[in-house]
Amino acid sequence: MWKNVVIVFIIFFTHSFCAKVDFPGRAVLDNFPLIDGHNDLPWNIFLNAKNHLEKCKIEADLTKDELFGSKNCVSCVTDLPRLKKGKLGAQFWAAYVDCTKSKDPVLDTLEQIDVIKRMVRKYPNDLKFTTTADGILEAFKEKKIASLIGVEGGHSIDNHLSVLRAFYDLGVRYLTLTHTCNLDWADSSLVDDPKSTHKKGNLNDFGKKIVLEMNRLGMLVDLSHVSKNIMWDVLNVTRSPIIFSHSSAKAIYSHSRNVDDDVLLKVKLNGGIVMVNFFSQFISRGNATIKDVTDHINHIADIAGIDHVGIGSDFDGVPSYPKGLEDTSKYPDLFDLLREQNKTKWTVENLEKLAGRNFIRVFKTNEKIRDDLTKEEPVENP
Ligand SMILES: *[C@@H]1O[C@H](CO)[C@@H](O)[C@H](O)[C@H]1NC(C)=O
Ligand SMILES: *[C@@H]1O[C@H](CO)[C@@H](O)[C@H](O)[C@H]1NC(C)=O
Ligand SMILES: *[C@@H]1O[C@H](CO)[C@@H](O)[C@H](O)[C@H]1NC(C)=O
Repeated sequence: MWKNVVIVFIIFFTHSFCAKVDFPGRAVLDNFPLIDGHNDLPWNIFLNAKNHLEKCKIEADLTKDELFGSKNCVSCVTDLPRLKKGKLGAQFWAAYVDCTKSKDPVLDTLEQIDVIKRMVRKYPNDLKFTTTADGILEAFKEKKIASLIGVEGGHSIDNHLSVLRAFYDLGVRYLTLTHTCNLDWADSSLVDDPKSTHKKGNLNDFGKKIVLEMNRLGMLVDLSHVSKNIMWDVLNVTRSPIIFSHSSAKAIYSHSRNVDDDVLLKVKLNGGIVMVNFFSQFISRGNATIKDVTDHINHIADIAGIDHVGIGSDFDGVPSYPKGLEDTSKYPDLFDLLREQNKTKWTVENLEKLAGRNFIRVFKTNEKIRDDLTKEEPVENP
């Protein structure tokens, strides 16, 4: 009897001791920047305020804002108070224009690049514009959110390599090859939908030139939104590691926007990264929760390896988020949950890799390959 009581006490005290020396997953976000591959706030600034920045006061909590509150904008979940609570270290802001509506996608994309730059300029104590991997680490040291630009969709270059190069010079550091439109040189993931009647194509010669030119420039090639054929074709020709800026795992939830296991294995060989998307309808059949997001992260870590997974929320770009991961203040809960689920797997080192170390490696490798290719001539338009 007494023996049992003593054992129970030993277990109790050992347990409380372990709980004390342990750490919550979120603690790593104080040591290494959490880098999010995709946020669509700039698109909402266009939709809700025609890019009039004074109408989007991200210095305040916008939850109940007339234009940017959840009542009138279901996708809107971004502002500085929530980003700070969310311990975000770096954000790729998406310069996106609608490929089905824009009459002048190059001009409209320039407007989005401009509004991102004006937003960053307006909050110099909180945001810092950067175009480099080291710039992300520097901003983090200064306790500012490193702000980078990704152009979402190859329609934005309107079949011109000159525009691609000009975007790079403006500071754009990734181009998502397609959005939801098929282009002359690459198909979108819509062709992989079971209901699609579109013939599945391949990356044509111009598409290959675009990828090689992006490698030469140091512009990250983003494979979110492209068809599976295009994923394979790009992975065959690219000289640099690629990214999926906001995509999840098809084995966990079958959706054409997600990444198949065979592609995940190829990403491992390529040295790239899949940054997991939180959109409810990409991650589960219904009523998605934060646990579903951890399922996608764990699966990608298991198949591609822990060095090839990251975060690409798609906050502000989609109409529903998982329970427990409803807005930009919730990232730390995701890191806590992973740590709780498996302490062997989610060590400090591995949580830092997920948060940002993997992305920094991919970015630096692209920068190194760019620097090794300085003698290569720019590619002419066809
Ligand atoms: C890339 O590799 C896949 C799988 O081996 C193959 O089916 C495809 O034709 C290749 N594409 C190119 C452009 O080489
Ligand atoms: C989701 O939750 C709602 C409300 O709690 C419920 O009515 C609905 O049946 C659920 N849907 C699924 C697919 O589980
Ligand atoms: C935790 O992760 C390790 C390493 O990935 C794995 O071997 C183990 O099965 C996992 N444990 C649980 C309970 O899932």
